[in-house]
Amino acid sequence: MTEYKIYGGTPLVGSVPISGAKNGALPLLFASILAEGDCVFYNMPDIGDIRLGVEILTRMGACADWRDAHTLRINTDGFTPDAVPVALTGQMRASSYLLGACLGRFGTAPAPCTGGCDFGNRPLDCHYEVFHAMGAEGDGSLYTRQGLHGCRYVFPRVSVGATVNALLAAAGTEAATDLAGCATEPHVVDLERFLCCIGVEIEGIGTSHLTVRGKKKRKGASYVVAPDDIEAGTYLCAVAATGGRVRVCDVTPGALSPLLAVLRRAGCEVEQSIDSVTLLCDGKLRGVEIETAPAPGFPTDLHPPLAAALCFAGGVSILRERVWQQRFRYVGELSKMGACTQMRGDTLVISPAQMHAAEVTATDLRGGAALVIAALATEGRSVVGQRKLLERGYENLPHKLRLLGANIV
Ligand code: UD1
Repeated sequence: MTEYKIYGGTPLVGSVPISGAKNGALPLLFASILAEGDCVFYNMPDIGDIRLGVEILTRMGACADWRDAHTLRINTDGFTPDAVPVALTGQMRASSYLLGACLGRFGTAPAPCTGGCDFGNRPLDCHYEVFHAMGAEGDGSLYTRQGLHGCRYVFPRVSVGATVNALLAAAGTEAATDLAGCATEPHVVDLERFLCCIGVEIEGIGTSHLTVRGKKKRKGASYVVAPDDIEAGTYLCAVAATGGRVRVCDVTPGALSPLLAVLRRAGCEVEQSIDSVTLLCDGKLRGVEIETAPAPGFPTDLHPPLAAALCFAGGVSILRERVWQQRFRYVGELSKMGACTQMRGDTLVISPAQMHAAEVTATDLRGGAALVIAALATEGRSVVGQRKLLERGYENLPHKLRLLGANIV
């Protein structure tokens, strides 16, 4: 099926299990290039981007098999950096991690040709700057004359991708690499922990200042992928929109704090346990003002799902996007459902409106999630096209929503 059909207007009620994090699992997958022997990843999400990542690695010589639906064994001993399957790497942003991982292992890296969600220009200048500081040369593919050396580098802006790539490259050199201004998103921290499991020494784990001492040889490891805070946040935004009571299970509640603070301000009640969060919403949301930012700020990936929920609020909301100023393509589709929105530069203003069912098309992964949320909260039959964009990052979305009483196929 190429679309979701949703009969909305019913409050969501129940519990939903949350999968491993897409944004965490992808760096781990590419980090396995650095390990000798088997890596076994538990809690791997069964989503399109992971299947694509595995295919890229196997086309480049890795062996991979699924031991069960969420356990992936991968061995990259036979991996070579030579033949990049650009038709595949061009479909995902995370293929840029080939740069750091290949540089760390081989001292050379092919230009990966990356793709992913279209938020306008997605530059790699900081990635190349840190590689150059470590002794790599080139501005497409990369090479080193005498291998990588350590360096001290201060990121001029917080970048998840450049931090991941710097960590991957630094894992391959025994000299100390001192990195300041690093991203501290939960999925970056997950990579830091995995690199330690394969033998890399990292000081400052979880902070913005990291000192990395790599190893010439790094061993395989078993690792459990951390829960997906963005998937969990998407379900929480859905119940904020529809009203009801939903528990997201198998999560790290701390990683959801920025969203939970906003949902409380919007009038929702939150209950937390050690590994679950329950959200209660009486269907009467208040308007809120938020601004996206790198961690520990409000995550850019939850801006579209939250914006969809705020279309059902009784007051005006103001949403400032500070990471991807062009992440608003989904807003035109929300307008087809009656959303009353106004763009002012990087700021979206959402006013109360009577929403109605409609046929809309996903523009990107999280923008697509916003449309599904709006459809769930609107009476009548909506259709959300370009389903495959959501399948890149949400495991079994219709099944999980049906667990909550939604009518979606
Ligand atoms: C970003 C988000 C991440 C999200 C992902 C997909 C942040 C810090 N990162 O990660 O949470 O999951 O999008 O939506 O919130 N930049 C440069 N030069 C570079 C790299 C980045 O100028 O070399 C700028 C970008 O234009 C952007 C910002 O830095 O404005 C953050 O980019 P970055 O974190 O690298 O992007 P992703 O890794 O895709």
